[in-house]
Amino acid sequence: PRLVFIASEVYPFSKSGGLADVMGILPLTLHRMGVPTAVMTPLYGRLSTASYPLRLVYEDCPVGYPWPTTTADIYEADYKGVPVYFISRGEYFDRRHYYCTAKGDYFDNCERFIFFCRAALSAMEHLKFPVRVVHVHDWHAALAAAFVYYWRKGNPFWSRVRTVMTIHNLAFQGRFSNRLFWDSGLPHEAWNMDGVEYYDSFNLLKAGIVYADLITTVSPTYAREIVTAKFGCGLEGVLAQRKRDLVGVLNGVDYTVWDPSRDKFLEQTYDAGNMAGKQACKNKLIQIMGIDPALRNRPVLGFIGRLRGQKGIDLLLDIMDRLMKEQVAVVVLGEGKPAHEARLLDLVEKYPGRLCAHVGYTEELAHQIQAGSDIFLMPSRYEPCGLTQLYSLRYGTPPVATDVGGLSDTIVSHPNPGATGFTFAESSPESFLAGIRQALAVWRNKMAWNALCANGMRADFSWEQSARIYTQLYRSLGLDDTVVQH
Ligand code: ADP
Ligand code: GLC
Repeated sequence: PRLVFIASEVYPFSKSGGLADVMGILPLTLHRMGVPTAVMTPLYGRLSTASYPLRLVYEDCPVGYPWPTTTADIYEADYKGVPVYFISRGEYFDRRHYYCTAKGDYFDNCERFIFFCRAALSAMEHLKFPVRVVHVHDWHAALAAAFVYYWRKGNPFWSRVRTVMTIHNLAFQGRFSNRLFWDSGLPHEAWNMDGVEYYDSFNLLKAGIVYADLITTVSPTYAREIVTAKFGCGLEGVLAQRKRDLVGVLNGVDYTVWDPSRDKFLEQTYDAGNMAGKQACKNKLIQIMGIDPALRNRPVLGFIGRLRGQKGIDLLLDIMDRLMKEQVAVVVLGEGKPAHEARLLDLVEKYPGRLCAHVGYTEELAHQIQAGSDIFLMPSRYEPCGLTQLYSLRYGTPPVATDVGGLSDTIVSHPNPGATGFTFAESSPESFLAGIRQALAVWRNKMAWNALCANGMRADFSWEQSARIYTQLYRSLGLDDTVVQH
């Protein structure tokens, strides 16, 4: 491979959010465009590898961290032609969860992901990859950009390698005690405010931002937002300094996984030309979620996402009493902050058969809610790109979403020509409720509603266009020969 992705989640092997979805399709798209691409990711304890058998390709690959003698085993799976390499070290990754338990983050996350970065780079060297671009994603992989930056000065293997860092979510930075920096293997000169130090803490995402040759984020609007104090999560200054190397490239959708015309999880498939299947999916959703059948002819409002402030779940809970007066059903799928979960479950008890929730993580139900709902709710406070609203568009489930980040870039808001959904300006309960009421008003007019759904279903967010932008970025790093033109 000339291009190697490093990421902590890759669908279908591991997933806790959109990062995994992107890692499951972007490398594949680039590979099909002729860029020889590989992916590196941890071998977690709970990995879905049934359809893609693993093969040990390097036993005891030297890593040299945290002890000079520490090694990793490297496994490989063939994912539709893209080699995915798994970094295996049981003590670090063979656990029930990826990053945290209900009690909080694993106490050794810094060590785990320093190890991951170093092992991934070491594997490239020992497997003698002709790598030219290392593309790292989010804080877990960010430090790899810093290592390449320093290693290319002294080690010929790295001298021509360039790095790209993609920020999927600036709020997760991987900030740790300064103690953990000193044996990370980075030179001590990196410890300063223009390096990895952030108010005396070791900030892994910042390391990526400072040392990568190029920085991207997952939508053009989010790229503009993160250089401001409101969205910059304290790194707006560092990002502003690198503004010339910061690009927003919109995510796409894997339509082999997310398309109602071939979705294997659905009761009945459908498309814009034949919507009968959508009604069947709604009936099924009513049944599996225990929605009161008396609401059958009323709209079902769906929410899928991490139950955290980012996703605005609290705004939805704030308006629930008022929303219930509209004679709608609400379906929620998600897990996250215990306080949000508890409040959600209290409201479920208050509105049986009208507010139905599944607290947990279920891929199948996510598809069924996309298909069986009439309206999709996404009151995010910030949203780097957001994939669920893109899925909802294709499933004929127009979104009601905050006008931020990738939501602004992907939804054409009613009443603009070609509208696909509804955006509201400010993340407050009142404006969210007003947005929903606007959607309900259009829903009552069947012709207008069908036209809105059809616009969304026809919108095309396939990856090819974005992948082409990434190839241009790789080329701008002077790497013409990474791209084999067709
Ligand atoms: P984020 O990455 O910020 O969580 P995205 O919209 O980019 O948001 O992607 C979220 C992905 O995770 C989607 O594929 C969505 O269907 C999935 N997802 C989120 N929560 C759940 C859940 N509780 N069960 C199943 N899938 C979920
Ligand atoms: C992050 C963001 C989300 C984005 C996803 C994939 O988790 O929160 O907006 O869609 O990454 O890039």
